[in-house]
Amino acid sequence: MQKPNFPGRVAFQFLAVICFFTLQACSQLSPDSPAMEKLKTSLKIPSSLDWSDPDPCQWTKVDCQENRVTRIQIPSKNIDGTLPPELKNLTQLTIFEVMNNRINGPIPSLAGLTQLQEANFHNNNFSSFPSDFFTGLTSLTSIHLDNNPFEPWEIPKSLKEATYLKTLSANNANIKGKFPDFFDPETFPSLTELHLASNNLEGELPAEFSGSMIQSLWVNGQSLNGTIEVIQNMSSLTEVWLHENKFSGPLPDFSMLTQLRNLSLRDNHFTGIVPLSLVNLKSLYIVNLTNNELQGPTPRFAADVVVDMNVGSNRFCLDDPGVACDDRVNILLSIVESVGYPVSFADEWKGNDPCDNWIGIVCDRGDIVSVLFRKRGLTGTISTKFSMLTSLRTLDLADNNLTGIIPTELATLPKLARLDVSNNRIYGKVPYFRHDVNVITAGNREIGKDRVPTLRGRSPGGDSASNPSGNGEKKTNKGTVLGCTIGVVGGLSLLVLVIFLCARKRKHTSKIQSPTTLRVHRHHSGEQGVKITVLGPNVTGQSETFSNVSSGPTDVHMVESGGMAISIQVLKNVTNNFSEENILGKGGFGTVYKGELHDGTKIAVKRMESGALSMKGLAEFKAEIAVFTKVRHRHLVANLGYCLDGNERLLVYEYMPQGTLSRHLFNWKDEGLKPLDWTRRLAIALDVARGVEYLHGLAQQSFIHRDLKPSNILLGDDMLAKVADFGLVRLAPLDGKHSVETRLAGTFGYMAPEYAVTGRVTTKVDVFSFGVILMELISGRKALDETQPEESLHLVTWFRRTYVNKDTFRKVIDKTIQLDEEKLASIRTVSELACHCGAREPNRRPDMSHAVNVLSSLVELWKPAQPDSDDIYGIDLELTLPQALKKWQALENSNLNESSSFLASTDTTQTSIPGFPFGFAESFRSADAR
Ligand SMILES: *[C@@H]1O[C@H](CO)[C@@H](O)[C@H](O)[C@H]1NC(C)=O
Ligand SMILES: *[C@@H]1O[C@H](CO)[C@@H](O)[C@H](O)[C@H]1NC(C)=O
Ligand SMILES: *[C@@H]1O[C@H](CO)[C@@H](O)[C@H](O)[C@H]1NC(C)=O
Ligand SMILES: *[C@@H]1O[C@H](CO)[C@@H](O)[C@H](O)[C@H]1NC(C)=O
Ligand SMILES: *[C@@H]1O[C@H](CO)[C@@H](O)[C@H](O)[C@H]1NC(C)=O
Ligand SMILES: *[C@@H]1O[C@H](CO)[C@@H](O)[C@H](O)[C@H]1NC(C)=O
Repeated sequence: MQKPNFPGRVAFQFLAVICFFTLQACSQLSPDSPAMEKLKTSLKIPSSLDWSDPDPCQWTKVDCQENRVTRIQIPSKNIDGTLPPELKNLTQLTIFEVMNNRINGPIPSLAGLTQLQEANFHNNNFSSFPSDFFTGLTSLTSIHLDNNPFEPWEIPKSLKEATYLKTLSANNANIKGKFPDFFDPETFPSLTELHLASNNLEGELPAEFSGSMIQSLWVNGQSLNGTIEVIQNMSSLTEVWLHENKFSGPLPDFSMLTQLRNLSLRDNHFTGIVPLSLVNLKSLYIVNLTNNELQGPTPRFAADVVVDMNVGSNRFCLDDPGVACDDRVNILLSIVESVGYPVSFADEWKGNDPCDNWIGIVCDRGDIVSVLFRKRGLTGTISTKFSMLTSLRTLDLADNNLTGIIPTELATLPKLARLDVSNNRIYGKVPYFRHDVNVITAGNREIGKDRVPTLRGRSPGGDSASNPSGNGEKKTNKGTVLGCTIGVVGGLSLLVLVIFLCARKRKHTSKIQSPTTLRVHRHHSGEQGVKITVLGPNVTGQSETFSNVSSGPTDVHMVESGGMAISIQVLKNVTNNFSEENILGKGGFGTVYKGELHDGTKIAVKRMESGALSMKGLAEFKAEIAVFTKVRHRHLVANLGYCLDGNERLLVYEYMPQGTLSRHLFNWKDEGLKPLDWTRRLAIALDVARGVEYLHGLAQQSFIHRDLKPSNILLGDDMLAKVADFGLVRLAPLDGKHSVETRLAGTFGYMAPEYAVTGRVTTKVDVFSFGVILMELISGRKALDETQPEESLHLVTWFRRTYVNKDTFRKVIDKTIQLDEEKLASIRTVSELACHCGAREPNRRPDMSHAVNVLSSLVELWKPAQPDSDDIYGIDLELTLPQALKKWQALENSNLNESSSFLASTDTTQTSIPGFPFGFAESFRSADAR
């Protein structure tokens, strides 16, 4: 299939012919002319830029597609005018770049430019930034606003709509106020670069950063404060610039930040001990710690780490890196950990001898005998570590805001004479102290009460600095009792609920269990999603043991992002031990078998040729699986699972009973089928366009199919078409600007010329193939038809030549299509679209969304689209892609417990005509390391 079966001659001719063919340029003036004229006068475009032609599409640094302006790129041109509000009228604009000029006046709102992907305004003299700027900018991936003398502005709410955003850069742009509360990974799943340095931001880093994909975070040079605890959950970070702010508190745990290279914390008020999780971080390359109040031993980083940590600019106990502090220092630091390492102590506890004038510490011959922390504004809990100060006689913690209990450990202090915790928010029973210890607890409203911790509260007495909220002084005795009761009752009902759910789930599961039944378990695995394990037969009970399966549960977790591992035993059973009779077809690297589950559900199982895959292949197999699990759409053949077992690599797909589009389009006579009528062809074209549009525009990544052709389009019983074979799918850069270089893969006749010649691939490669498929649907002829005379052997060339000529137009139409005026008009429109998609120059080809628009307008003439609500992975086409993705994710989450019905949901009661996705294994042949 993918093998170039045709003689090299043919391919060469096809390339030669196609390269000489050019679409006739349209001489009509662009509808964007008025707005562009405004832009020209408003910006006072210098004559060095040739913007004189009446047609803006002819101007230098301006690009058009279909006569609409798509790109304006005029950086560094010494321009000093203003931007006109009519910029908004350029609705097809994708890239707008005016950086490094001297442009004045406000940045106009671009609200509604849904195509806009990149906007660069940096290094100008812009005076203001509109708050509705981002409204409707659903394609925006990158914006730069740096170094403009804007009037003070806050990060606008409208930013929320730019959910594709990867880069937001606005350093030195006069931003004020706090971080908004929507910088969460759900709103911005792709955000990797957030550069907001040298502004006037205040407040804390938002908690919503937790779990974000941000890699590069610059917020240095302003008035941010609070702790930086949240960055411990930002595991994608590579570069963190927090310097020159007012951050305080201890450094967080860095163990999840395994990509972190560059960490700049200098000129803040960080206190506490530099955590080993930072010191030992393998990825670390540069770390700046100068001018903080860091305590404990001077950290010793690996030799290859560039460290900026001026001696004396912190509060380390000793100057020599890696040398441990005095024991008493260690104990005192561990004690103040539970109150968040207050700056006041850090400021005044210098050196390595606590008996040398440390505030709050009184010594007697080198032993700490008194700790006097009265009225120091402490919040947090009383540390258990006080018990390590064995000489302690007086402990005064009065007049603070301490909460939690008095730890029983304090009662072990042998010399303690006086403990004063008055006027705090301490609660709980006072431990039994020796009778001669003077324990003062006045002014703690809940002291002495035997508190039962509520379900939500943490256990009291821990060393954590966080306070259980809601335990305020105002709470009365009754209130507490009530709270406890609610806690207990709540706990009980929770328990009942859990039991109920378990029982329900068990029942649900057992419904599909029988000795030869698939048993499906979903494991929650962190936040990444869900893993399904399908257990083999002969397993009894709920235990998760595998029988006759060499891949243990650990294998299941090898593929990230919620793959669906299926045991080889199950697949052997359902395919009759891969019997000859079950073969649906052979192709590429493997054989596709039909499988039938006990309940009649049919599946297609692709088994790779063993030995064909190297270790590299294995890694790629896993990578591809990870991709699969993210790619789900009504018009893409669903991958239901995979199996990795020794040398065996298998993939399980949904079974498509009506087989390939080529069967119905080219082989219908031999197969005894009816030819497809035009309405059907149109619907299929739209299905395919929607599937490919989804692939190209998935929220986080864009995928390129690279091998679209009728044999990779499968039909269901309802003749709903789905795109199959993602074996050649590659990640595409979302902006479409760059291209990925790959080893050639694909099929002659469908391959875009620039791809065939250079091997460079963008999404436009698929658009070309789609154009060819449209031509095939119209003509019923194959892309390369060796039965044809040489001049019409290559469909694209022949189609164009025949179609443009009015007299010969009808010749392109398949004879089996019954024509009327309406259909003829429709075919004409689709022919136009086909030529447009099949344009020689990739930048003349439209995006798939354009094809979807054209086709859906035609399909609606006959058949209003019917929403299939029962398709759980169906995408509501009214939604924008990011919205749709979110909805799908939500659906997936809500369907966690419906796993079994998912596998069993494919309804196949009808014909057994083969349908199978082919060629997945091609990826191993074609994929390259870059
Ligand atoms: C811009 O669009 C608005 C409304 O769509 C229209 O009224 C106006 O004439 C357009 N201006 C230019 C210069 O195209
Ligand atoms: C920038 O704009 C202000 C007015 O907004 C103007 O006074 C100043 O001269 C401009 N600077 C440059 C370099 O154009
Ligand atoms: C942080 O700064 C804000 C004002 O910008 C202030 O209200 C708040 O109390 C500060 N928080 C801390 C922890 O210092
Ligand atoms: C980090 O993530 C965990 C798990 O999602 C969450 O419980 C915790 O509160 C987060 N911590 C911070 C500081 O955001
Ligand atoms: C951090 O320290 C390194 C080494 O001293 C220095 O080269 C770099 O400029 C500093 N970076 C920042 C952001 O301060
Ligand atoms: C203790 O905390 C409460 C609320 O958090 C605050 O109103 C009060 O002023 C604090 N008291 C002291 C002594 O810091």
